[in-house]
Amino acid sequence: MSARPRGNGLAGLVRGRGYFVTGTGTGVGKTWVACALAALARARGLRVGVLKPAESGGGGDAAALKRASGCPLPLAAIRPYAFRAPLAPAVDAALEGRVVSWPRLRRAYAAVAEASDFILVEGAGGLLVPYAPGLDAAGLARRLGLPLIVAAARGLGTVNHSLLTLEAARARGLEVAAVVLSAPAVPGDPSVRDNARLIARLGRVRVVDLGARRARG
Ligand SMILES: Nc1ncnc2c1ncn2[C@@H]1O[C@H](COP(=O)(O)OP(=O)(O)OP(=O)(O)O)[C@@H](O)[C@H]1O
Ligand SMILES: [Mg+2]
Repeated sequence: MSARPRGNGLAGLVRGRGYFVTGTGTGVGKTWVACALAALARARGLRVGVLKPAESGGGGDAAALKRASGCPLPLAAIRPYAFRAPLAPAVDAALEGRVVSWPRLRRAYAAVAEASDFILVEGAGGLLVPYAPGLDAAGLARRLGLPLIVAAARGLGTVNHSLLTLEAARARGLEVAAVVLSAPAVPGDPSVRDNARLIARLGRVRVVDLGARRARG
Protein backbone atom coordinates (compact mmCIF):
# COMPACT_ATOMS: atom_id res chain seq x y z
CA MET A 1 0.00 0.00 0.00
CA SER A 2 1.52 3.33 -1.02
CA ALA A 3 0.71 6.51 0.84
CA ARG A 4 1.33 9.93 -0.64
CA PRO A 5 2.63 12.36 1.91
CA ARG A 6 2.02 15.51 -0.20
CA GLY A 7 -0.45 17.07 -2.54
CA ASN A 8 -3.51 14.94 -1.89
CA GLY A 9 -5.67 17.30 0.17
CA LEU A 10 -5.24 15.48 3.47
CA ALA A 11 -2.58 17.77 4.94
CA GLY A 12 -5.14 20.04 6.61
CA LEU A 13 -6.45 17.07 8.58
CA VAL A 14 -3.19 16.53 10.46
CA ARG A 15 -4.22 18.31 13.63
CA GLY A 16 -5.61 17.52 17.06
CA ARG A 17 -5.25 14.20 18.84
CA GLY A 18 -6.13 12.07 15.80
CA TYR A 19 -9.08 10.20 14.35
CA PHE A 20 -11.15 7.08 14.27
CA VAL A 21 -11.11 6.22 10.56
CA THR A 22 -14.35 4.55 9.60
CA GLY A 23 -15.90 4.04 6.19
CA THR A 24 -19.11 3.69 4.28
CA GLY A 25 -18.31 -0.01 4.07
CA THR A 26 -15.51 -2.41 3.42
CA GLY A 27 -12.85 -1.80 0.75
CA VAL A 28 -13.54 1.94 0.44
CA GLY A 29 -10.08 3.23 1.42
CA LYS A 30 -9.89 3.33 5.24
CA THR A 31 -6.40 1.85 5.31
CA TRP A 32 -5.26 3.98 2.37
CA VAL A 33 -6.48 7.18 4.04
CA ALA A 34 -5.11 6.25 7.47
CA CYS A 35 -1.70 5.38 5.95
CA ALA A 36 -1.60 8.63 3.98
CA LEU A 37 -2.46 10.65 7.10
CA ALA A 38 0.11 8.70 9.12
CA ALA A 39 2.81 9.43 6.54
CA LEU A 40 1.93 13.13 6.50
CA ALA A 41 2.02 13.39 10.28
CA ARG A 42 5.26 11.45 10.45
CA ALA A 43 6.84 13.75 7.86
CA ARG A 44 6.02 16.64 10.22
CA GLY A 45 7.97 14.98 12.97
CA LEU A 46 5.00 13.76 14.99
CA ARG A 47 5.09 10.41 16.76
CA VAL A 48 2.21 8.59 15.10
CA GLY A 49 0.33 5.83 16.89
CA VAL A 50 -1.94 3.40 15.05
CA LEU A 51 -4.50 0.86 16.18
CA LYS A 52 -6.57 -1.68 14.28
CA PRO A 53 -8.75 -2.97 17.14
CA ALA A 54 -9.81 -6.10 15.28
CA GLU A 55 -8.51 -7.42 11.98
CA SER A 56 -10.44 -10.14 10.19
CA GLY A 57 -9.58 -12.55 7.43
CA GLY A 58 -5.82 -12.41 7.81
CA GLY A 59 -5.64 -8.94 6.26
CA GLY A 60 -2.59 -6.71 6.23
CA ASP A 61 -4.10 -3.48 7.55
CA ALA A 62 -2.24 -3.37 10.86
CA ALA A 63 1.07 -4.12 9.13
CA ALA A 64 0.42 -1.37 6.55
CA LEU A 65 -0.47 1.10 9.30
CA LYS A 66 2.67 0.19 11.22
CA ARG A 67 4.85 0.69 8.13
CA ALA A 68 3.31 4.03 7.16
CA SER A 69 3.36 5.45 10.67
CA GLY A 70 6.68 4.11 11.91
CA CYS A 71 4.83 3.19 15.12
CA PRO A 72 7.38 1.21 17.16
CA LEU A 73 4.86 -0.96 19.01
CA PRO A 74 4.72 -4.65 18.02
CA LEU A 75 1.98 -5.83 15.68
CA ALA A 76 0.19 -7.62 18.51
CA ALA A 77 -0.18 -4.30 20.34
CA ILE A 78 -1.40 -2.49 17.24
CA ARG A 79 -3.90 -5.25 16.45
CA PRO A 80 -5.24 -6.69 19.71
CA TYR A 81 -7.65 -9.05 17.93
CA ALA A 82 -6.79 -11.01 14.78
CA PHE A 83 -9.47 -13.30 13.42
CA ARG A 84 -9.31 -15.90 10.68
CA ALA A 85 -12.58 -15.40 8.78
CA PRO A 86 -13.42 -12.23 6.81
CA LEU A 87 -16.44 -11.38 8.96
CA ALA A 88 -17.57 -8.71 11.40
CA PRO A 89 -15.48 -8.88 14.59
CA ALA A 90 -18.42 -9.96 16.78
CA VAL A 91 -19.26 -12.80 14.40
CA ASP A 92 -15.63 -13.81 14.07
CA ALA A 93 -15.20 -13.82 17.83
CA ALA A 94 -18.30 -15.99 18.33
CA LEU A 95 -17.02 -18.47 15.71
CA GLU A 96 -13.73 -18.77 17.56
CA GLY A 97 -15.35 -18.96 21.00
CA ARG A 98 -13.91 -15.58 21.98
CA VAL A 99 -15.33 -12.18 22.94
CA VAL A 100 -13.96 -8.78 21.99
CA SER A 101 -13.45 -7.08 25.33
CA TRP A 102 -13.74 -3.32 25.74
CA PRO A 103 -11.27 -3.20 28.67
CA ARG A 104 -8.68 -4.93 26.49
CA LEU A 105 -9.26 -2.45 23.66
CA ARG A 106 -9.10 0.44 26.12
CA ARG A 107 -5.74 -0.80 27.41
CA ALA A 108 -4.42 -1.22 23.86
CA TYR A 109 -5.51 2.31 23.00
CA ALA A 110 -3.93 3.72 26.16
CA ALA A 111 -0.61 2.07 25.29
CA VAL A 112 -0.68 3.55 21.78
CA ALA A 113 -1.81 6.96 23.06
CA GLU A 114 0.96 7.09 25.64
CA ALA A 115 3.61 6.65 22.95
CA SER A 116 2.25 9.06 20.34
CA ASP A 117 1.33 12.64 19.48
CA PHE A 118 -1.19 11.77 16.78
CA ILE A 119 -3.37 8.63 16.71
CA LEU A 120 -5.17 6.85 13.91
CA VAL A 121 -7.58 4.03 14.73
CA GLU A 122 -8.96 2.06 11.80
CA GLY A 123 -12.33 0.47 12.35
CA ALA A 124 -13.53 -2.72 10.66
CA GLY A 125 -15.96 -2.18 7.76
CA GLY A 126 -18.46 0.62 8.42
CA LEU A 127 -19.84 2.53 11.39
CA LEU A 128 -22.40 0.04 12.70
CA VAL A 129 -20.29 -3.09 12.43
CA PRO A 130 -20.63 -5.09 15.66
CA TYR A 131 -17.53 -5.80 17.77
CA ALA A 132 -19.26 -7.33 20.78
CA PRO A 133 -22.73 -7.38 22.34
CA GLY A 134 -23.52 -3.70 22.94
CA LEU A 135 -20.40 -2.45 21.19
CA ASP A 136 -20.21 -1.39 17.55
CA ALA A 137 -17.67 0.76 15.68
CA ALA A 138 -19.58 3.95 16.51
CA GLY A 139 -19.58 3.05 20.20
CA LEU A 140 -15.88 2.34 20.05
CA ALA A 141 -15.16 5.75 18.46
CA ARG A 142 -17.28 7.38 21.15
CA ARG A 143 -15.59 5.59 24.01
CA LEU A 144 -12.18 6.48 22.61
CA GLY A 145 -13.28 10.10 22.29
CA LEU A 146 -11.99 10.51 18.74
CA PRO A 147 -13.63 12.42 15.88
CA LEU A 148 -14.36 10.45 12.73
CA ILE A 149 -12.93 10.48 9.30
CA VAL A 150 -15.30 8.69 6.94
CA ALA A 151 -13.59 7.03 4.00
CA ALA A 152 -15.83 6.45 1.01
CA ALA A 153 -15.50 5.24 -2.55
CA ARG A 154 -15.34 7.86 -5.30
CA GLY A 155 -17.92 6.34 -7.65
CA LEU A 156 -21.67 6.03 -8.10
CA GLY A 157 -23.50 5.26 -4.85
CA THR A 158 -21.14 7.17 -2.63
CA VAL A 159 -23.49 10.10 -2.03
CA ASN A 160 -26.13 7.86 -0.46
CA HIS A 161 -23.62 5.79 1.51
CA SER A 162 -21.81 8.87 2.79
CA LEU A 163 -24.97 10.71 3.84
CA LEU A 164 -26.30 7.63 5.65
CA THR A 165 -23.03 7.30 7.54
CA LEU A 166 -23.04 11.00 8.46
CA GLU A 167 -26.59 10.76 9.74
CA ALA A 168 -25.83 7.68 11.83
CA ALA A 169 -22.67 9.28 13.23
CA ARG A 170 -24.37 12.51 14.22
CA ALA A 171 -27.34 10.66 15.73
CA ARG A 172 -24.78 9.04 18.05
CA GLY A 173 -23.14 12.32 19.00
CA LEU A 174 -20.00 11.71 16.94
CA GLU A 175 -18.10 14.54 15.31
CA VAL A 176 -17.20 13.99 11.65
CA ALA A 177 -14.03 15.86 10.68
CA ALA A 178 -14.25 14.95 7.00
CA VAL A 179 -15.47 12.55 4.37
CA VAL A 180 -12.56 11.39 2.20
CA LEU A 181 -13.42 10.00 -1.24
CA SER A 182 -10.73 7.43 -1.83
CA ALA A 183 -11.24 4.04 -3.53
CA PRO A 184 -11.16 4.58 -7.30
CA ALA A 185 -14.33 4.66 -9.38
CA VAL A 186 -14.71 2.52 -12.50
CA PRO A 187 -13.27 4.33 -15.52
CA GLY A 188 -15.76 6.69 -17.13
CA ASP A 189 -18.11 6.91 -14.13
CA PRO A 190 -19.66 10.36 -14.67
CA SER A 191 -20.75 10.69 -11.01
CA VAL A 192 -17.20 11.51 -9.87
CA ARG A 193 -17.60 15.05 -11.19
CA ASP A 194 -20.28 15.97 -8.66
CA ASN A 195 -20.02 13.48 -5.78
CA ALA A 196 -17.74 15.57 -3.57
CA ARG A 197 -19.75 18.75 -4.03
CA LEU A 198 -23.05 16.96 -3.36
CA ILE A 199 -21.81 15.30 -0.19
CA ALA A 200 -20.36 18.58 1.10
CA ARG A 201 -23.58 20.47 0.46
CA LEU A 202 -26.14 17.88 1.52
CA GLY A 203 -24.07 16.57 4.42
CA ARG A 204 -22.69 19.95 5.56
CA VAL A 205 -19.27 18.40 5.92
CA ARG A 206 -15.72 18.89 4.73
CA VAL A 207 -14.97 16.60 1.79
CA VAL A 208 -11.56 15.66 0.42
CA ASP A 209 -11.63 13.97 -2.98
CA LEU A 210 -8.33 12.15 -3.35
CA GLY A 211 -8.78 11.33 -7.03
CA ALA A 212 -9.47 14.92 -7.93
CA ARG A 213 -6.56 16.19 -5.85
CA ARG A 214 -4.10 13.55 -6.93
CA ALA A 215 -4.03 14.96 -10.46
CA ARG A 216 -2.70 18.23 -9.07
CA GLY A 217 -0.39 16.62 -6.53
N1 LIG B 1 -6.92 6.95 -2.92
C1 LIG B 1 -6.67 5.76 -3.47
N2 LIG B 1 -5.90 5.66 -4.58
C2 LIG B 1 -5.64 4.46 -5.14
N3 LIG B 1 -6.08 3.28 -4.66
C3 LIG B 1 -6.86 3.33 -3.57
C4 LIG B 1 -7.19 4.56 -2.91
N4 LIG B 1 -7.97 4.28 -1.85
C5 LIG B 1 -8.13 2.95 -1.83
N5 LIG B 1 -7.46 2.38 -2.85
C6 LIG B 1 -7.39 0.94 -3.14
O1 LIG B 1 -8.68 0.37 -2.91
C7 LIG B 1 -8.58 -0.88 -2.22
C8 LIG B 1 -9.32 -0.80 -0.88
O2 LIG B 1 -8.67 0.18 -0.07
P1 LIG B 1 -8.40 -0.07 1.47
O3 LIG B 1 -7.76 -1.38 1.70
O4 LIG B 1 -7.73 1.15 2.00
O5 LIG B 1 -9.93 -0.15 1.97
P2 LIG B 1 -10.46 -0.42 3.45
O6 LIG B 1 -11.70 0.37 3.61
O7 LIG B 1 -9.37 -0.23 4.42
O8 LIG B 1 -10.83 -1.98 3.36
P3 LIG B 1 -11.16 -2.98 4.62
O9 LIG B 1 -12.62 -2.81 4.90
O10 LIG B 1 -10.81 -4.33 4.03
O11 LIG B 1 -10.28 -2.59 5.76
C9 LIG B 1 -7.09 -1.16 -2.07
O12 LIG B 1 -6.67 -1.95 -3.14
C10 LIG B 1 -6.46 0.23 -2.14
O13 LIG B 1 -5.14 0.22 -2.59
MG1 LIG C 1 -8.57 -1.54 5.80
